[in-house]
Amino acid sequence: MATEITTPTKLIYMTDSYIQAMPATVVAVIHDGEPKVDGTRSVSVILDQTLFYAQGGGQPADQGEISGPHGKVAVSHVSYNGGAILHKGSLEGQVAVGEKVSLHIHWPLRYKHMQLHTAGHIVDQAVKNILPGSKSIDGNHGIGKKLSITFSTAIPETALPAIQKEVNKIITEAGPITFEMLTKDEIISRSIAIPFDLPSNKPLRILQLHHYPPMPDGGTHLHTTDESWPITITGVKTDAGNTLILYQVQEPIPSSSTVAAARLSLVELKKKVAEILAAAHQDLATPEELKTTYLGKKGRFNDLAQMLRQLTPQDRKAAGMILNELKTQLEQLITERANKASDISGKWVDLSAPGQLPRLGHMHPVSQAMEQITQIFEHIGFTRVRYPEVDWDHYVFEALNMPSNHPARDEWETFFIDAPIDKKFGKVVLTAHTSNGQVREMERLNSTPPIRMINIARCYRRQQDATHTQMFHQFEGLVVDKGITIQHLKGTLDYFAQEFYGPGTKSRIRPFHFQFTEPSFEVDFSCHICKGTGQVDGKDEEGKPAKVKCKFCKSGWHEVGGAGMVHPNVLKAGGIDANQYTGFAFGWGIERTYTLKPGLNIDDIRLLYSGEMKFLEQF
Ligand code: DAH
Repeated sequence: MATEITTPTKLIYMTDSYIQAMPATVVAVIHDGEPKVDGTRSVSVILDQTLFYAQGGGQPADQGEISGPHGKVAVSHVSYNGGAILHKGSLEGQVAVGEKVSLHIHWPLRYKHMQLHTAGHIVDQAVKNILPGSKSIDGNHGIGKKLSITFSTAIPETALPAIQKEVNKIITEAGPITFEMLTKDEIISRSIAIPFDLPSNKPLRILQLHHYPPMPDGGTHLHTTDESWPITITGVKTDAGNTLILYQVQEPIPSSSTVAAARLSLVELKKKVAEILAAAHQDLATPEELKTTYLGKKGRFNDLAQMLRQLTPQDRKAAGMILNELKTQLEQLITERANKASDISGKWVDLSAPGQLPRLGHMHPVSQAMEQITQIFEHIGFTRVRYPEVDWDHYVFEALNMPSNHPARDEWETFFIDAPIDKKFGKVVLTAHTSNGQVREMERLNSTPPIRMINIARCYRRQQDATHTQMFHQFEGLVVDKGITIQHLKGTLDYFAQEFYGPGTKSRIRPFHFQFTEPSFEVDFSCHICKGTGQVDGKDEEGKPAKVKCKFCKSGWHEVGGAGMVHPNVLKAGGIDANQYTGFAFGWGIERTYTLKPGLNIDDIRLLYSGEMKFLEQF
């Protein structure tokens, strides 16, 4: 043990062995090892005063509970440490130095220890009465299994019946058992026999059993000898030159009222009150039934009130108040219940209790976006289609004017499938964009425009960062007809911007390059936060109101994807006469399009696929 606490703990049980509960203040908490799996922790607690008997003088330690405002210790052992009493046990929660705690000893156990200890003194006295000059040197009052008093003098077995008779006599004479604190000098001057060497610097506790010679003792004892349970002398034994007198103490089979008497303290009374209140609150019986169970003649309230008689007179007043409060609360509860509605069957139901809603799921945010995009385009005559995610190189690149070995292909960091190469269609790939749907759609419609396709599908690329996932979704638009121009493209993009992001959102196209469109553009949508201006109201360096850069877009615009007028070679690959027909196409990622929606503020698209319910439940 690292800490040696020298402040002596005040031993309350020395003056009154019958107190079962009282307050104390924590002086030290010593943690013995790491917290256990169940969260409890072994501790030794030192208090300013205690009710707990520390093992010694042949009497076992008390057990019980120390409870504070933030935790409690189940005390399993109590010992001395240089005058301080160590309450060892298992801590649940926290107990801190300086805190007021309440102590509560395990009374049936303590009472038994008191019985055994007093019995030892009765047996000792009986032997001395029968065989004057007998000298006792030790006693076992319950630590081992067998109870015994050790004498340094001889005891013939034939004396046992007389000793038994004397024991019974001492019990029936109902002599009081009292204590006095005396100095060693006072003990000597009163010629009190001291069996062993005692310290001379502090007062000693002297036990007086009726009118018999006093002796030093630190244990807990009964008030009078007649409170003793029956004692039976069972034998005599010699051991290393000493004589042990063996005996048994018979615990009477208790009647229910004596158990209550032995156990009831104010602390226990409060516990019982709390139990009754909790039970009443949870009880869903009718108000009438509640009345019978709790306030009826044989109800739980009356049961408890009966026990009041068993308390000490000092405690009775406080107990009376506790019981009055219990009665008021029970009556209130029953009236409240009676005021509430009852159903047809007469059984009481709490109509004000909130119902339990079943847990409802919803579509994944990406699926929601796909639904919305589909609807927006269907309104203007587009048809939703889906083409394979595992496709031929032909549709993914070749037919889109990107012959194999064309450097533009590098931009689509493609996954290749380990499959035989087809003479006409080439390798098998995981499609890297939804543009593979363009030529497939032309073929599906027998190369006969008009074509108004919206292709939404999964795409795959070798990429992974905050704005890219290896699997993602794209939507691809394709319109082919006679007389289709960039104006149709621009009108479609503006329409989408307003439908998807809200009124006022504009689109912008900037020159770019794709193999499958000519001319090609990059598509931007205006930022909904700064309305495309790139500036928002803020404060300048001096803290004055000023226009500052929009943090969301930085420029007034968000780049989303690509578009352009379908390249004649692509139309040709789809069997369409490029002299008669023109078309536009566009395509980009759904995740990116979605995360730009007003109010979402998702800066890492990987979150969408994390499976994290806390995140997904928000959409
Ligand atoms: N497929 C392109 C990509 O994934 C995007 C694209 C650009 C689609 C231009 C188009 C287009 O339809 O015309 O990066």
